[in-house]
Amino acid sequence: MFCFSEGLAAAFSSLLLAALALTRSLAASCLLTGGAYLALRLFSLEPASLQRAQLVVQPRGSPARIAHRGGGHDAPENTVAALRQAAENGATGVEIDIEFTADGIPILMHDSTVDRTTDGSGSLRDLTFAEIRKFNPAAKHRLWRDYRGIKIPTLEEAVLESIRYNLIIYFDVKGHADQAVAALKRLYQEYPQLYNTSVVCSFMPDVVYKMRKADRNVITALTHRPWSISHFGDGRPRFVSYWRHYLTMALDVIVDWSMHNFLWHLCGVSVFLVQKNYVSQDYVHQWSSKGVQVVAWTVNTFAEKMYYENVLQTSYVTDSLLEDCDPHY
Ligand SMILES: *[C@@H]1O[C@H](CO)[C@@H](O)[C@H](O)[C@H]1NC(C)=O
Repeated sequence: MFCFSEGLAAAFSSLLLAALALTRSLAASCLLTGGAYLALRLFSLEPASLQRAQLVVQPRGSPARIAHRGGGHDAPENTVAALRQAAENGATGVEIDIEFTADGIPILMHDSTVDRTTDGSGSLRDLTFAEIRKFNPAAKHRLWRDYRGIKIPTLEEAVLESIRYNLIIYFDVKGHADQAVAALKRLYQEYPQLYNTSVVCSFMPDVVYKMRKADRNVITALTHRPWSISHFGDGRPRFVSYWRHYLTMALDVIVDWSMHNFLWHLCGVSVFLVQKNYVSQDYVHQWSSKGVQVVAWTVNTFAEKMYYENVLQTSYVTDSLLEDCDPHY
């Protein structure tokens, strides 16, 4: 089924207009737009059923509270202890980050180095699983005294703990597309309940596309933060040089347009994970008219959480289930 929604019609109209303005030739513009339409039609992946997506995004029929990195404010991020803590604190689910050791073991880690969160040092590229297992993932956490003797978990250990506590899982894939897709595919085969209880998400459309190409039953999400190429999470520009700054801003405009107008369709995503400053009632409705559900990140104050739960009725990712805190970028 290829459903040509209003959103896509608008996207192709703007593409036609842009092509006309650039080429000043009606024939060339029509050919370009027609080609784009054909490509989208040929390569788009059909999304998972809305019903199953609903089961994952709002499993209890109400907005879900997802603990970011397992709830990094309440416990050491991306650890089994954090998942357990999140469940005890009433989280509906957890968002966890997938990385790989030098010997190819999938583990939970947000950064590509161990320096920020552990007492170790170095890049995951150079550290074997046996080596990283000796590091303490609680070392830099404000509550380290309560988490002695914990280890960096494998992806499978984290999945088993989440299943044990009935937690929905948002697998965040930052890189290593092929390796991550293969590891996740194996997990879905081994624990098929994950089809009903997890989402694979990424900032990178190629990861999402490859995941759904490998297994059409997996629910997927594109993650997006407008202006993320040109600006850091806290709003500071990434580049000092003017031309770099404006070039990356132009790229940001193109990426933002692509995310909202055709990438979601191409990848067949069920969920759009977006930075919370861009979420409104209108925004949520625009997506739901395309059959896509919005999940916001990271919603960290009590007032905002009430707004998401009661007004927007939208699921959100948070750093703490217990108290207001600053966002962890
Ligand atoms: C997923 O949920 C549906 C509806 O509740 C159920 O019929 C199906 O068996 C479940 N699939 C798995 C793999 O658990």
